[in-house]
Amino acid sequence: MINIAVLGYGTVGSGVVKVIDINGEVIARNTGQEVNVKYILDLRDFPGDPFEYKIVRDFETVINDPEIKVMCEVIGGVGKAYEFTRRALEKGISVCTSNKELVAKHGAELLALARENNCSYLFEASVGGGIPIIRPIMEALTAERIESVSGILNGTTNYILTKMEREGADFAEVLKEAQAKGYAENNPAADIEGYDPCRKIAILSSLMMGKNVDSEKIYTEGITKVTAADFAYAKEAGYTIKLLGQSKAQGDEVLAMVAPFMISKDHPLAMVNDVFNGIFVTGNTVGDTMYYGRGAGKLPTASAVVADVIECAKNVGQTIPCFWDQEQVALADISQVEWKYFLRAKASAKADVEAAFPGGRVIAVEGCEDEFGYITEAIVEKDFAEKYEALSDSILSRIRLA
Ligand code: HSE
Repeated sequence: MINIAVLGYGTVGSGVVKVIDINGEVIARNTGQEVNVKYILDLRDFPGDPFEYKIVRDFETVINDPEIKVMCEVIGGVGKAYEFTRRALEKGISVCTSNKELVAKHGAELLALARENNCSYLFEASVGGGIPIIRPIMEALTAERIESVSGILNGTTNYILTKMEREGADFAEVLKEAQAKGYAENNPAADIEGYDPCRKIAILSSLMMGKNVDSEKIYTEGITKVTAADFAYAKEAGYTIKLLGQSKAQGDEVLAMVAPFMISKDHPLAMVNDVFNGIFVTGNTVGDTMYYGRGAGKLPTASAVVADVIECAKNVGQTIPCFWDQEQVALADISQVEWKYFLRAKASAKADVEAAFPGGRVIAVEGCEDEFGYITEAIVEKDFAEKYEALSDSILSRIRLA
């Protein structure tokens, strides 16, 4: 039997305990021994919880118990989570986490600490919830030079955008539903402003480059400016709107960003709806590979954490390799990238918009006669920004096309 501790008894932590409870037999078979949750660390009370008797409040109880071989850090954030992870790894105790904020910020350093102490730091659940994505990159695509990673990396915003498209639903109302279902972050700004998918694309980019990509340097836009009107034009033109994280290796640099994009209804990511995520990893010889599944939620995320626990349990006393050095990767300048843009503008500015962005396509939507939609020809981001600035009083919204 191997004893583990779960640090944090929130949505994911309680999911970890539940997955181990309901799948104990198959987990034991796959581990080669029983996995026992000896402690659950949380400051709160959980009266009536079936695992209440396992709850402890003091991390010292956990860290000083020599029987604990693996910890699941599902506290979130970079405060106590960082401190406890460091202390566990320094003692040779492996740590498995869903904490993308901590992985994005300190992943390279914590991996180095794990190597020094013959244990592992695993973070499958930090990207794509229940979708296997880290292990495919680290173990199945190891013959590849990975050229790009891109996709839908946030379940909450995909849930919101799907409902806005299908039902014309109110943004705030759908956000509440996503929170109730356990998809959203404690501070949902991390989802809707794009910080959460930014951390995820930073983690994937770091694995792609084998070096550290700083999430704070990645250009990030969320979905707060996307409106029902944008969806009406998108539908008319054969598109939908998705929040995408994109990252491309360009020599020693990486071109990474997070923003809403209009994509053709025929694009495979247009079929990725609700809380589901869809991620493309493109290698130089294998081409495109795609990963799909529930990108958020208690049990899917917990399942990925427990899969990491099983790996750690099978490798006690050694480090599961992960190629992510602390050396920093330079970010390429996105202002030089060329895209088409979708615009909504006041009807009175039609001639000005057509003159500024010649050769584009006008889109008309019934009931929106005082405005119009327009898809430009491909234009460099920097040139677009200058023209957009000059017309900013007349342009109501703008979304890039992927
Ligand atoms: N809030 C995140 C999401 C949770 O909605 O994708 C999973 O990382």
